Amino acid sequence: MLTEHPEEYLSGEAISNYLGCSRTAVWKHVEELRKSGYEIEAVPRRGYRVVHKPNLLTSSEIQAGLSTRYFGKNVHYEKSVSSTQELAHRIASEGGEEGTIIVAEEQVAGKGRLGRQWYSPIGTGIWMSMILKPKIPPQQAPQLTLLTAVAVIRGIHAITGLNCDIKWPNDILLNGKKLVGILTEMQADLDQIQSVIIGIGINVNQISFPEEIKETATSLRIEKGKEINRASIIKSILENFEELYEIYLKEGFLPIKIMWEAHAITIGKRITARTMGGSFQGFAQGITDEGILLLEDDLGDTHKIYSADIE
Ligand code: BTN
Repeated sequence: MLTEHPEEYLSGEAISNYLGCSRTAVWKHVEELRKSGYEIEAVPRRGYRVVHKPNLLTSSEIQAGLSTRYFGKNVHYEKSVSSTQELAHRIASEGGEEGTIIVAEEQVAGKGRLGRQWYSPIGTGIWMSMILKPKIPPQQAPQLTLLTAVAVIRGIHAITGLNCDIKWPNDILLNGKKLVGILTEMQADLDQIQSVIIGIGINVNQISFPEEIKETATSLRIEKGKEINRASIIKSILENFEELYEIYLKEGFLPIKIMWEAHAITIGKRITARTMGGSFQGFAQGITDEGILLLEDDLGDTHKIYSADIE
């Protein structure tokens, strides 16, 4: 209530009436909020007002003002986890609902694509996994990665005004440097998906990076020159994701593909694709309806690239 009325004082009486609890209970909650980093002004005969919010990803911060129907209605918040992906897999297999999200302030074993590590320091980034249970054939699941990339780009733009690019399949770049990584994992039988776990890692408020990635990574704070509220970015991504996901379930992949292509920098360029089966050089023609990259080599042969590092 307090964060939804940032300009006003809310009286203890109004809050206690609204929540159906005593004024002492309101005061105790205010004390709890203060302990977790909120600065709350209390003025006699006027009430309480939030002066400063900590940059936290608690469920109340994410859910305040969130306009989705089901994405983010269940939030699992952890201070530190090995990986939000692992936790999401467990929650999904124990009956966790579609739209549940898992966020952590820190991951000590964050996972990147192709078995790599994902640098996830405490309190600075968004380390989040979403549980989906779509009724689509398992081979279409990679489309959801591309849908996620569009939702993330739109979410970031709505809050910061920054325009990011997509490097196939799922790197989001800002001014040529990596800002976001997306990791899609699936639990499925041959013909039926149990759950899809989409992991999103966003560099938000880091001001420096470890030696190995310092030339290639960036953060919103570095590009924007000021601290960014992480919960607002999550909310905006969830809202954009839900909207696109509903379009996808009703109308299929084509509308999403068109949006994706509008942000893709890989397409129409000469590239090198390093795959498990070797390197291919040539012209990136586009993506198929399954989200597979088509590369025409110098002999005019077209290769389907399912997974690769692109340069
Ligand atoms: C990539 O290699 O580009 C994908 C990185 C994905 C990182 C995110 S952070 C939240 C989720 N939990 C993980 O362990 N990984 C993903």
